Amino acid sequence: MTAPPDWKDVLRIAGRVLEHLDWRVLGDVYFHWGGEAFWSERRPRVLDLGGELGRRLLRELPPGGSSLWVGAGVAELPVLLGEVLLHGRSVVATNLRAEECRVLDAGLRAAAPQVALQFSPEDARVAAPARTFDHLGCISVFTDPESWPVLSDVAYGRIAPVQIDVDRFVAERQAARELAAALFARLQRPGVVTTSAEEAAWFLEQAELAGAAVEATDDLVDTAVVGDPVGFLRVGGAATESASG
Ligand SMILES: C[S@@+](CC[C@H](N)C(=O)[O-])C[C@H]1O[C@@H](n2cnc3c(N)ncnc32)[C@H](O)[C@@H]1O
Repeated sequence: MTAPPDWKDVLRIAGRVLEHLDWRVLGDVYFHWGGEAFWSERRPRVLDLGGELGRRLLRELPPGGSSLWVGAGVAELPVLLGEVLLHGRSVVATNLRAEECRVLDAGLRAAAPQVALQFSPEDARVAAPARTFDHLGCISVFTDPESWPVLSDVAYGRIAPVQIDVDRFVAERQAARELAAALFARLQRPGVVTTSAEEAAWFLEQAELAGAAVEATDDLVDTAVVGDPVGFLRVGGAATESASG
């Protein structure tokens, strides 16, 4: 009889997948961040911090549920493997960078063909249509300088108020709000959102609009690639109106 898998097994499998990734292609995908040189520095952190985040996340999630990940990449690999292998969860992992999805899928096929996980190069809003999820994973998406140059500068405090192009800011904020609304609509209640401290406000606004109570956890874990601190929003059901006389 074989023992059920544990985090050591997950990290061993994640490590094997990392060994099979095409780091030259990933260097091109992450050229803004410093390409292949960036990866040789960050790669060891993927297992350490990914494992830490995964362990922490599984304390928030029930076994057997399902997650929708937005912009999941190399950094989330150990986390997603933990969800699938240790909690038997189904994971829809989306990322608009098709090359990163292709490389990750090739690594998974080569190193862990038994694992039911693949990366979909599509917008999370339309992935797995008609399904809802008890967990939404969204790390460093709303702060991505490639998608939201102005919002990213504001979120990270890289721009002085006098320098903000207000029209671009308003247009980006509107588009980001629409994305947050579409993602939040796919979250079951109760549900959990994993997100960075800089992005939490997008989801808090949606929860408030929906009248849903939210509890934010205090502890944060840094991510391996971008380095943003990540925590969890526990989203409850819609607030019930108190009876009034
Ligand atoms: C800065 S990267 C962060 C990647 C990874 N989460 C990390 O922390 O290293 C942002 C990612 O979000 C993806 N993204 C942005 N909007 C998306 C959407 N609507 N659906 C799926 N992925 C999206 C981009 O393609 C990009 O891969």
